[in-house]
Amino acid sequence: MLQGKAGGGTCALAGQEAASSVTHVNIVAGPFGPGRRPHGGRSIGVSEDNPFSIFRDWFDEATRSEINDPNGMCLATSTPDGFPSSRMVLMKDFDEKGWVFYTNLQSRKGEELAANPNVALLFHWKSLRRQVRVEGSVTAVTKDEADAYYQSRPRNSRIGAWASKQSRPLEGRWALEKRVAEFTAKFGLGEVPRPDFWSGFRVTPRRIEFWRDMPFRLHERRIFTRSGDGWTTEMLYP
Ligand SMILES: Cc1cc2nc3c(=O)[nH]c(=O)nc-3n(C[C@H](O)[C@H](O)[C@H](O)COP(=O)(O)O)c2cc1C
Repeated sequence: MLQGKAGGGTCALAGQEAASSVTHVNIVAGPFGPGRRPHGGRSIGVSEDNPFSIFRDWFDEATRSEINDPNGMCLATSTPDGFPSSRMVLMKDFDEKGWVFYTNLQSRKGEELAANPNVALLFHWKSLRRQVRVEGSVTAVTKDEADAYYQSRPRNSRIGAWASKQSRPLEGRWALEKRVAEFTAKFGLGEVPRPDFWSGFRVTPRRIEFWRDMPFRLHERRIFTRSGDGWTTEMLYP
């Protein structure tokens, strides 16, 4: 029996040895429910009717508490015939205009976004036990924004963007390394310009929901819905 800690409860892994032999995971309940620690913090936006300010506060807290990638967000797109697909991307900018991420425009997500700009974003900050759900649609960032961000990246990441035919089949790791070597030689010591196929999107929100863990699954949810130039807000049952 492997014993580990998950939150305030005990995580008992009913396998005999290595993780590969684990067939059943039993999270033993602690005083706040299975594997949980007490929550903390104030109620969501009680004195706040601007969802961007709440997001900013929560993100600042996550920046201090998450061990890595507090700006990681799940981006859900969908195929033209309506099948969802999701993956993580990094939020690289945020303000009242929306959430910005960068990617290869010829990737699967790039092609899905070209056909259907409607998306959902999901932030989950495990250390805070909070999530934020965003629904909206994307618009392309300006060329200047994309250039400025691209040029702020490490040189090897800029070369990597040229080398990666993101989401296309890869014959073997060697094929990627060969392309990296080719582009490294091509650009030499000179500038590495932004490829036309690499840019960013801004998610303009229609709905933003804040979710905060509360004891016994009686979680707190507050949703903001776009209404003209402003927002309406209400609480939701958990
Ligand atoms: C934490 C994390 C952050 C990521 N950030 C990005 C990103 O900002 N842009 C990106 O194109 N891919 C990012 N990726 C890789 C994507 O999840 C995905 O593998 C890739 O973009 C291809 O997705 P697609 O085939 O759906 O287009 C990230 C992955 C992880 C786990």
